[in-house]
Amino acid sequence: MVRFATSLSKESIVDVEGVVSLPKETLKATTQQVEVQVRKIYCINRAIPTLPINLEDAARSEAEFEKAEQAGEKLVRVGQDTRLNYRAIDLRTPANQAIFRIQCQVENKFREFLLSKDFVGIHTPKLISGSSEGGAAVFKLLYNGQPACLAQSPQLYKQMAICGGYERVFEVGPVFRAENSNTHRHLCEFVGLDAEMEIKEHYFEVCDIIDGLFVSIFKHLTENCKKELETINRQYPFEPLQYLEKTLKLTYEEGIQMLKEAGTEIEPMGDLNTEAEKKLGRLVKEKYGTDFFILYRYPLAVRPFYTMPCYDNPAYTNSFDVFIRGEEIISGAQRIHTPELLAKRATECGIDVSTISAYIESFSYGAPPHGGFGVGLERVVMLFCALNNIRKTSMFPRDPQRLVP
Ligand code: 4AD
Repeated sequence: MVRFATSLSKESIVDVEGVVSLPKETLKATTQQVEVQVRKIYCINRAIPTLPINLEDAARSEAEFEKAEQAGEKLVRVGQDTRLNYRAIDLRTPANQAIFRIQCQVENKFREFLLSKDFVGIHTPKLISGSSEGGAAVFKLLYNGQPACLAQSPQLYKQMAICGGYERVFEVGPVFRAENSNTHRHLCEFVGLDAEMEIKEHYFEVCDIIDGLFVSIFKHLTENCKKELETINRQYPFEPLQYLEKTLKLTYEEGIQMLKEAGTEIEPMGDLNTEAEKKLGRLVKEKYGTDFFILYRYPLAVRPFYTMPCYDNPAYTNSFDVFIRGEEIISGAQRIHTPELLAKRATECGIDVSTISAYIESFSYGAPPHGGFGVGLERVVMLFCALNNIRKTSMFPRDPQRLVP
């Protein structure tokens, strides 16, 4: 039996029959809590003798590699592409096991919290006739011979659900973006956590939902996922996220002013680039002691056509982005709810109104003021754990170069 057991390759699946006991005195110094005295062993599925990834190397932290190198040991770093090419093995590292358990908890809390606030879960089509966010970043296809595309977001449909009399809706589903962005934070397919709701008095009601939702997600992870977070921390060390009980809200202009005072000039009616966002994140952390904040009242020119202009100054909008550690995880806004203004804004943004006529018409049957937001699930997990690449938080990532596995 011993000869048979030693001939088994690593990662083979075995059934073992034996007696579980406490380790003998001599073994107490080991990390083992219990031992199994094997009586019978069966091989259910033998793994190939040499795996494409060495799991011990794949589970090491950068600090371990550096220490080993200083000691003259030769260890092989497992590159990101190799990991993703052999994901079914790579997923077995303790950190990867923890990451997708955390992801599941975030998604679950998102549903649980919104259900407790009377939101209804819906599903909108992913095969649609045109772009929902504007721009060229759509995957085109033929739908029974007609030009169609994969949905860039549930945006237009979640708004139509509000027109349909649902006061509050949410959706968890895939979002497709054909952008050729080879960055650490863009995917071509990601999981969108979306919500849309009627607004009674002010679009800050949407920000209040985000505030309650994310504070509850952060608390849940910190209190109930300690083991997973420690496991991730061992391989990818990170500082715990700092957040306030009441989420900080700054206007876009205040953000620009903070950057200006710190020596970064931003075009006041333009958008923040990644570098400026990160810098603002650092400045906010220094001044207010939080990694999580909302920036609101963005200029009209940088928001999608469906965004409600500010009543006091239409050069700005009733919109916001939400950041973790200086990177965007959410964008949201009040939406235009009158068909005339919607058609006008779509035309101004270069959208052919005939392609979205059913959407625009939905607002002519009586539609309440409403607003909502969209969250990128992979980004939330990546930034909560301060991981350096979104591919680490997508089980089988789709980026401009990758369609398999
Ligand atoms: O900012 P986005 O494009 O906004 C919308 O889709 C709106 N319809 C949302 C709304 O309700 N107003 O996307 C929302 C979020 C971003 O904040 C980001 O977290 C994530 O989705 N996201 C991406 N995640 C991974 N890869 C990409 N290419 C992403 N693009 C956006």
